[in-house]
Amino acid sequence: MHPLATELNHIIRSGNPHILEMLSDLGRNLFFPKGILSQSAEAKQKAKHINATIGIALENGRTMQLDSVMKLLGDISAADALTYAPSFGLLALREAWKAGLFEKNRSLAGKSISLPVVTSGITHAVSTFAELWLDPGDTVVLPDLFWGNYNLILALRRGARLVHFPFFTPDGGFNHTAFEDSVARTAAENGKVSVILNFPNNPTGYTITAREAERIAAFLTATAEKGANVVAAFDDAYFGLFYGDEPIRESLFARLCSAHPRLMAVKLDGATKENFAWGLRVGFITYGTCISGDSRPVFEALEKKTAGAIRGCISNAAHLSQTILLRSLQAPEYPAEKQAKTRILQQRAQRVKAVLEDPKYQAAWTPYPFNSGYFMCLRLKTVDAETLRCHLLDRYGVGLIAVDAHNLRVAFSCLEERDVAELFDTVLKAVKDLEGPTG
Ligand SMILES: Cc1ncc(COP(=O)(O)O)c(C=O)c1O
Repeated sequence: MHPLATELNHIIRSGNPHILEMLSDLGRNLFFPKGILSQSAEAKQKAKHINATIGIALENGRTMQLDSVMKLLGDISAADALTYAPSFGLLALREAWKAGLFEKNRSLAGKSISLPVVTSGITHAVSTFAELWLDPGDTVVLPDLFWGNYNLILALRRGARLVHFPFFTPDGGFNHTAFEDSVARTAAENGKVSVILNFPNNPTGYTITAREAERIAAFLTATAEKGANVVAAFDDAYFGLFYGDEPIRESLFARLCSAHPRLMAVKLDGATKENFAWGLRVGFITYGTCISGDSRPVFEALEKKTAGAIRGCISNAAHLSQTILLRSLQAPEYPAEKQAKTRILQQRAQRVKAVLEDPKYQAAWTPYPFNSGYFMCLRLKTVDAETLRCHLLDRYGVGLIAVDAHNLRVAFSCLEERDVAELFDTVLKAVKDLEGPTG
């Protein structure tokens, strides 16, 4: 093991030895190298005469640049756009995102969490999480209605075993019994259980209620209390897009980040969906657990391991994107802008709900409960989802997603309110086409 990894592990062990048990083999071996990046960071502070450390180009003391690039960047300087960002991400952005987490999650008040580490979008945050916390063969518990890319990230690339529980009870709430059975069985078999929960959920658009959140948090804490190590990751990609009074207004991360020493809470989020900036590719990974004594060195050690994983994969996330996001977060108009866009999505969700009240749809599908996010999902009663998807495309020029054989996902985030009724009428027509005259 590299001495720097040993040093980080020593710091982590002195704050909470269970963290080391929960880290993957790779996670235990990870460190942030004192290589070019840290030597050049040191030189930036001290090499006032000549600094010839880092692999960028300078001209007359400034970042070398092409006018054809710079003229597109408005008032953003080359130093804020073209140079490398740290593997950890821009410090000011990490601090601003962390401050935002405390504003958006009331239960975080008074708790200590890591500084978020910047990733290249949330996919990369999930995959970095998997590298640090999952060994090949580890079991991850997640609902049967889930973002399909977890298959590639967790199972295919990382070799984890995915165990799915039915997301909803028949009357349409979070299926605690199924979730608890899966978690308890995995904990009993392996002594370690990892879960990934995603609210607002892709593909259903469901976010748990405060009461459901309480029960999930209590159960995971009790599992840790009984002696299993629990790695609980929260994919909060669609955070903040909550409609009506039903969904809980904060991440489960906030409830669980200081629940138990055997429980490592990991928050995966970013600007992608929440700030309507998909292609900027800015995500974050943030840790919370119980640490005895000063938590800062332990969180810093975890941040260094995370940044080491990033250094060894993409090196660092786009500097320009981070600068744009930081300036947007600091803009006085930012809160109002965000609220206005959230309201548009909420109105679309309400329109979808109103249209689907019509009993004419009842024989064709049942909508899953939805109260948040970008999506809603139909459980089809009579036809295969992939067949329907293709028919909708070929006959009507309408594009939806077949999640599996039974479920069709509608991204109402892409629909104008005025098109909602036409969309569902078209889907119904297509269902009837496939059912045939006697269907
Ligand atoms: C639940 C969930 N997590 C993560 C992502 C990926 O986000 P990003 O584009 O930031 O990688 C998506 C995108 O569809 C998603 O639905």
